[in-house]
Amino acid sequence: MISKNIENPPNSGSQSSLADSPSSTSTLTLAHLSDPHISCMHAITTRDLFSKRLFGYLRWKLFRGSGHSDRVLSVLHADLASTKPDHIAVTGDLTHLSLAAEFEKARQWLQTIGCPSKVTVIPGNHDAYVPTDWHKTMAHWTEYMLSDIPQDSERPINNIDRIFPCLRIRGHVAIIGVCTAQPTAPHLAVGSIGVSQLGRLEKILSQTAQQKYFRILLIHHPPVSDIVSWRKRLTDAPALQSLLADAGVELILHGHTHFVHQGCLKTLSGSVPVMGAPSITALDRPADRRARYYIYRISSGDGNWNVRLQVRVYSPSENRFIRESEQQFSNKL
Ligand SMILES: [Fe+2]
Repeated sequence: MISKNIENPPNSGSQSSLADSPSSTSTLTLAHLSDPHISCMHAITTRDLFSKRLFGYLRWKLFRGSGHSDRVLSVLHADLASTKPDHIAVTGDLTHLSLAAEFEKARQWLQTIGCPSKVTVIPGNHDAYVPTDWHKTMAHWTEYMLSDIPQDSERPINNIDRIFPCLRIRGHVAIIGVCTAQPTAPHLAVGSIGVSQLGRLEKILSQTAQQKYFRILLIHHPPVSDIVSWRKRLTDAPALQSLLADAGVELILHGHTHFVHQGCLKTLSGSVPVMGAPSITALDRPADRRARYYIYRISSGDGNWNVRLQVRVYSPSENRFIRESEQQFSNKL
């Protein structure tokens, strides 16, 4: 992978040069955002608090809640109208305590940014905070998570294993989502993919490589080591790294960290970018934790994949998203 900063401009207007570029049929524009943590604390019951939710509720009330605001989502909506992505990827933690009301509210928000064929969702650890009734929770998002051709479509979908890994083909891009979300003990926020899902992922990566797609892996927990603490890690990261070393992938997008992360992973495709987005609703945080989303323009030419990235950061003083930086990646076809 070759990467270079195109520019790191001062804060500029909401109209981006990337968005202003003429789109062609050979370019796909993907927006990546993560971790909205949509909450419905008024809907919590005493019964809900007899669980891990008690700790999440207290942390939200005492510390985290004041750092997030749903109003950024309205600002995001306006900005997406100007950047006009072809597709949007949301990498988990749409809810905070996995309350049924939060899943419903998150679905309503998803409907404002795009229809299920235009938005791909994977869950995060907060979306599996405690064991829940599928039909009251994840079922609200099924259409946003399903593959173009669901596996074994005859059987009803009533758990996450029936959905992931998901595969959506958009132009020359294969969007591949895995689920790392699982209920854990109160002090843990770990995730895992599991042997079964890894096996299916290997087949999807192999198939889409043969078909010459640009493969993007969506995953909530970062698949690289030493980015988050032990209690927040992806437990089977070594197995995923080994799989990717053999099968390759072109780009990895994750959430979970709540801060900006840009790393790389050695794979069959070379050293590929691993890009982590902070929470899309984070307000007055340190600069690297403030709300951002990422616009990737993916095209091919001269025997290479070419990716132009624009990072758009929320400006609290202007109450809008502004261009923060641009980069370019290229990778052999
Ligand atoms: Fe999160």
